[in-house]
Amino acid sequence: MSLLIKNGLIVTSDTQYKADIYVEQEKIKAIGVNLNFKAEEVIDASGKYILPGAIDSHTHLCMPYMGTYAKDDYKTGSIAAACGGVTCILDFNTQRNGETLYEALERKKSLAKGNTAVDFSLHPSITEPKDKIIKEIKTAITDYGTPSFKVYMTYDFRVDDSVILKLLAETKKYGGMLQVHAENFNIIEYFNNTFEKQKKLSIPYHPKSRPNIAEAEALSRVAKLAEITGGNLYIVHLSSKEGLEEVKRAKDKGVNIIAETCPQYLILDESRYFEPEFNGAKYVMSPPLRDKQSGEALWEGIRSGYISTIGTDHCPFDFNGIKDMFGKNDYRKIPNGAPGIETLMMLIHSEGVAKGKITLQQMVKILSVNTAKIFGLKNKGSICPGKDADIVIFNPKIKFNISYKKLHMNVDYNPYEGFDIIGMPETVYVRGKKAAQFKNDRVEFVGEIGRGRFIKREPSF
Ligand code: URP
Ligand code: ZN
Ligand code: ZN
Repeated sequence: MSLLIKNGLIVTSDTQYKADIYVEQEKIKAIGVNLNFKAEEVIDASGKYILPGAIDSHTHLCMPYMGTYAKDDYKTGSIAAACGGVTCILDFNTQRNGETLYEALERKKSLAKGNTAVDFSLHPSITEPKDKIIKEIKTAITDYGTPSFKVYMTYDFRVDDSVILKLLAETKKYGGMLQVHAENFNIIEYFNNTFEKQKKLSIPYHPKSRPNIAEAEALSRVAKLAEITGGNLYIVHLSSKEGLEEVKRAKDKGVNIIAETCPQYLILDESRYFEPEFNGAKYVMSPPLRDKQSGEALWEGIRSGYISTIGTDHCPFDFNGIKDMFGKNDYRKIPNGAPGIETLMMLIHSEGVAKGKITLQQMVKILSVNTAKIFGLKNKGSICPGKDADIVIFNPKIKFNISYKKLHMNVDYNPYEGFDIIGMPETVYVRGKKAAQFKNDRVEFVGEIGRGRFIKREPSF
């Protein structure tokens, strides 16, 4: 399959220029002005942006959680990804009781096999940090192709500081990285118990039980553990102004700390928890939505480079029958998480670039370039000869009104329902093959299920 895309505006992390792109055998072969290769498909992309496909650094496909499962599997999740301009997914792979990292990896890979429309990799998520698992880290980095590992400082499957120290030290030895969900478990437990005694278990108590300071405390502590060990630390889903201040403090001191945020913390805020008719449950996630100042601070964090990536934390649960039933009388029982993979690129463009909060270059940097570099995806993340032809032809003029009915995520609501979007992925290519096309007010999936590959990643440090 060969493809010639003519006259588009190619966007990189530091510039933009008009040129043609020639694609052959899944790769970008040439970029130049007036290219005259003979191609099976020729597209005129005048007036459109040529972007590298977004890489979602943070998804939870098929994850068992809080008595149910995150509803998107590899098939529905990767179709949604392709339709949103996400051409590669980095999915979490939570270790089950007694499993080695290898067994966990093979189990999750088998769910993906034959079912995935875009490329993917996995982050092992360590819940049983026994000695043999810590020893396995070396092989996971050098053989399995999974150099980023995740732990949680809260939830039932949390680990303590001594484990974090060991993991930071061990991952560093082989150029790997530790990803941390940073919230102070004891602060959250204290508020949960207090609110239970006071019979304050309605939805607005969810954010009150997990205040900004619970994130900031855990983050400052784990940053110190990274400082002590010299380890490579990645903070997932940074949500608060106070948390960002800790990231800045550590980074300015020379700690190897990388921060990721999510669209929901940039765009939505805690007022959503007061929506009538239990609607607030749609936004129950951890960390919770924050105050407006936090959102503004996070945009500034992207502009100043303290925040390096945006992942979606895609973890959808139906509202009807799941969120509303499980947690009817108790916010603590509402499955935590929300859909996001398909709306990532459109939201960051419409709410970020189009509103002047970030530049197009910054968008490409945080959605693709940085993510590929940080996670060792050497063939992905930019429009350059030799890279995989994961390309989005983005039309900045298309207007789209968000409705879950027009999207492909397998869930019965959308947190951004009714948002007016400006700019949409118009045509999406996964390794040179068309996977999605905007048509009649929605993006249609036109790709191939099963074409997505597991990508072995390289250590980046
Ligand atoms: O609420 C969330 N974020 N659910 C998914 C699990 C996690 O903490 O990332
Ligand atoms: Zn988390
Ligand atoms: Zn998550």
